Amino acid sequence: MKDSPFIYGTTVSVQSFTNRETETQKLKSNLLNGINTTLISPRRWGKSSLVEKVIADINKKEPKIKTVLIDLFAVGSEAEFLEHYAREVIKASSSKWQEWMNSGKDFFSKLIPKLSIGIDPANDFNLSFDWDELKKNSDEVLNLPEIIAKKKGVKFIICLDEFQNLSSFNGYLIFEKKLRACWQRQKSVTYCLFGSKRHMMTEIFNNSSKPFYRFGDIMLLPKIETKKWITFICKSFEGAGKHIDEKTAEYIPMLMKNHSWYVQQLAHYTWNYTQKRATKTELITALNELINANSPLYQKEVEYISSTQLNFLKAVAKNETRFTSVAVMQKHLLGTPRNVLKNKIILINNDIIHDIDGKFEFVDPAFELWFKWIYFKEPYNVLM
Ligand SMILES: Nc1ncnc2c1ncn2[C@@H]1O[C@H](COP(=O)(O)OP(=O)(O)O)[C@@H](O)[C@H]1O
Ligand SMILES: [Mg+2]
Repeated sequence: MKDSPFIYGTTVSVQSFTNRETETQKLKSNLLNGINTTLISPRRWGKSSLVEKVIADINKKEPKIKTVLIDLFAVGSEAEFLEHYAREVIKASSSKWQEWMNSGKDFFSKLIPKLSIGIDPANDFNLSFDWDELKKNSDEVLNLPEIIAKKKGVKFIICLDEFQNLSSFNGYLIFEKKLRACWQRQKSVTYCLFGSKRHMMTEIFNNSSKPFYRFGDIMLLPKIETKKWITFICKSFEGAGKHIDEKTAEYIPMLMKNHSWYVQQLAHYTWNYTQKRATKTELITALNELINANSPLYQKEVEYISSTQLNFLKAVAKNETRFTSVAVMQKHLLGTPRNVLKNKIILINNDIIHDIDGKFEFVDPAFELWFKWIYFKEPYNVLM
């Protein structure tokens, strides 16, 4: 049997990457033209995949441009960030690890990095600094790509994933100013800063009193359109020796509200259950399996929220819009207007709901289906 053509759980930059022509074009053109770019969308819509795809395209065509991709998801302090940043910039600067080992004397004047290399250089190259020295001279690390670029006659594109994580560092406010001051002076380095926590990202980049205000272009990554998903799903089925017609395929993005990860997951389960030709029956089985597979997670999610927050969520599920009106507050037991406001903020900050054109929506479409079944006994496949 052929492998499933649908992928979720890792980024998809080559295989299974679909559409996004406009966004790929725009991001590539920005980065090649030195325009710093901030990319924002809820998680699992496809930011990392898009950036990886753009970087892969650039690597293929532009030998004079060195690219760096760092995920800040697990980086917990300024020192750790600086070491990570220096290490990846050095690695990108040359394909020869022998040159990496010389970077201490080639590119640093005040700091003395401790460098080490293991059996597998690509994965075992390490770098650290004396912490007191690093604190005094962090500029030197932040300017490293610019220094290397000048010396080698190259340019850098630096992409930082989950950028909003920086804001949880101790002493972030001072660090943020320093970052901005160093980075905006660099002529040969372009930054792509992206992240999933929309409220945090907009606070960093869209607040006129913050250092990163107007740092560059802000792109809000949209969902992939239904029409494009249908084409992708139908083609992928054919390519893997099975069939699904457009009408059946359309239910997949419809049920999953075009959420990239979930469309791939539901398409995968459907493909898996299909012998030759997918029908509604296979799709319903797949949907049940998807919700069952995820339900322990959803269960946990509701365990963590208070009862008035849960009531607020129920009101969202019932398509309410005027949450502080007396009727709505009474009907759903939302508490006082103050409670409503507070709960709304908590649910937004925890990425459970978001505001789409003035209306609240569940961020996670499958969680929404599960939620409506658990609390209102609405069947998952109510749309079909
Ligand atoms: N362009 C795309 N085409 C098809 N599927 C995609 C695309 N982008 C993302 N996906 C799906 O969404 C999942 C999450 O993508 P990812 O890039 O990790 O999102 P993010 O970085 O926004 O959290 C991927 O594993 C894949 O299943
Ligand atoms: Mg990501």
